[in-house]
Amino acid sequence: KKPPSRKGSMADVPQDLLSQIERLEELFVVPTEKLKEITDHFAKELTKGLTVEGGTIPMNPTWCMGFPDGNETGTFLALDMGGTNLRVCEVTLTEEKGEFDIIQSKYKMPEELKTGTADELWNYVADCLEQFVEYHHENEKLDQLPLGFTFSYPATQDYIDHGVLQRWTKGFDIDGVEGKDVVPPFEAALAARGLPIKLTALVNDTTGTLIASAYTDTAMKVGCIFGTGCNAAYMENCGSIPKLAHMNLDPNLPMAINCEYGAFDNEHVVLPRTPFDIIIDKESPRPGQQAFEKMIAGLYLGEIFRLVLLDLHTQTECTIFVDQDVSKLKKAYSLDAGFLAAIEEDPFENLSETEDLFKNTLGILAKKPELELIRRLAELIGTRAARLSACGVAAIAKKKGWEEFHVGADGSVFNKYPHFKLRGAQALKEILDWPESKGKGKNDPIEILPAEDGSGVGAALIAALTLKRVQDGNV
Ligand code: GLC
Repeated sequence: KKPPSRKGSMADVPQDLLSQIERLEELFVVPTEKLKEITDHFAKELTKGLTVEGGTIPMNPTWCMGFPDGNETGTFLALDMGGTNLRVCEVTLTEEKGEFDIIQSKYKMPEELKTGTADELWNYVADCLEQFVEYHHENEKLDQLPLGFTFSYPATQDYIDHGVLQRWTKGFDIDGVEGKDVVPPFEAALAARGLPIKLTALVNDTTGTLIASAYTDTAMKVGCIFGTGCNAAYMENCGSIPKLAHMNLDPNLPMAINCEYGAFDNEHVVLPRTPFDIIIDKESPRPGQQAFEKMIAGLYLGEIFRLVLLDLHTQTECTIFVDQDVSKLKKAYSLDAGFLAAIEEDPFENLSETEDLFKNTLGILAKKPELELIRRLAELIGTRAARLSACGVAAIAKKKGWEEFHVGADGSVFNKYPHFKLRGAQALKEILDWPESKGKGKNDPIEILPAEDGSGVGAALIAALTLKRVQDGNV
């Protein structure tokens, strides 16, 4: 679906608001040349992250070595500790090539857990697994079930069932976990409940997405998440990972790299940050981290929008919402990406749904010209996110010299944010100079497609591949 054109609707917008809109356009529009400059720098940073000296982008080796061939079999648990939900799956990879059965349960991830204690976190996670096993296997005598644990944070892994949390991202802030292996306390919580579960693989959501997508489509080379956070994984040969040279691995062995590229440009060389991005960073639990992610990921889109509106309201000339009670708008993180998505989806010429949204959620009566500004602002923030997101994918393509391939993508922004896919495809076309007819997403040289279930099937497949490697006596 093409983004609707609202041309002409600005006719009634008074001059002072129009000049504010122009100022916002200057801040948020990222032209083609800038996208290219970002991508070139990004590709260099990806390479740097693989060196012994390292760079800003972690480029974490995952010990997920190679793609599935479709002949994997067995029953596996998969646990996904996402930002809003915790999901437990039991995946059975059947004898039939490429086929699987899945049962799953979702549990709410209480908001307080994100800033609570490590004990609370691991106990809660283990309680959910216990509930799952009791519910689905009541009174059964179970053999040990292998588990793929999707832990979607940057972790240093010396082997696949180990992972030292480098730092929390996506607003998590639990003391005493960073800098430590997360596996022992997790296993201790399982053992305390006598659960017949063995952690086989600790997996990033991007790696899971890559593997699950490649299971059904051999053109898949990159797994991406555009959700609460943003990141990608792809396959590198061990011989091209200088920081693993000391391990004398077979140089032709493939190894998935979890880029953790939300950290791109933490040193602020190239991204066009606005004063609002700077505030978001300063007030976050980890200032100075995840510079790229904070401009584009779902967790931050609503907050950027809120900060801009508040700024327009509090300027000396108080441009918008004059004499309105903005106390609700003052609450940090009170608007999520879904709020922005709803504004961009408002189909009516008169923006009546947006008007209702402001009235009902924020207690603000927005006037017609203000609604036009609100809509344009949502478009600017959503479009910037999609266009900058494309730079990460284009950078991997450039670094690897890949011209035609598929990207498996997942996450709330990719799946639900209006026009995100089309805007991203358009940006890829601009960055990579595809001929005029391309850039619609479908049948482009690089296609970003909805992924298979990475944190369920992907994590199970990685657990299966790991057990096979162990059985075969390989690393
Ligand atoms: C954050 C995490 C990363 C994850 C991404 C998407 O960037 O650090 O591990 O892949 O969010 O969930």
